[in-house]
Amino acid sequence: MEQSLVLVKPDGVQRGLIGEVITRLENRGLRLVAARFMWVNTELAEKHYAVHAGKPFYAPLITFITSSPVMAMVWEGPDAIAAIRQTFGKTRGTEADPGTLRHDFALQARYNIVHASDSPETAAFEIALWFKPEEIVSWQRDIEKWIYE
Ligand code: CMP
Repeated sequence: MEQSLVLVKPDGVQRGLIGEVITRLENRGLRLVAARFMWVNTELAEKHYAVHAGKPFYAPLITFITSSPVMAMVWEGPDAIAAIRQTFGKTRGTEADPGTLRHDFALQARYNIVHASDSPETAAFEIALWFKPEEIVSWQRDIEKWIYE
């Protein structure tokens, strides 16, 4: 079983897409195990995006992610990281496959609605950064037995 951090970023929140994101992940069969609606301060933003420090889009990205509340979540399931990234599509909306969230709702790289962890190592780092262990809820959806073994 894998976990991934998922953020509905300021553009997704402002456009009223929190429900759309949650519905797509629930429909996929994944399980929500943590959630917090919150403002992101600069310190958290810089830690979260430390891997992008120095890139041309870094400063505007920090400004963007702190510009409006975000919906921070942890989702769980078999191959959750790949499943979520497939559901969301490529970073840039114009490169995302038809039917993916970013294809359906986004055009550019910064205004791309959501963030999702890109590897198990990144997921472990990001989940520990955004949530305390006691905020992760351990449970099962009864319908899971009809979605995966
Ligand atoms: P995210 O998954 O949150 O991780 C890093 C973010 O940087 C990415 O989504 C995009 O929002 C943003 N990003 C990546 N490449 C670019 C780019 N070329 N220009 C602007 N923003 C970018």
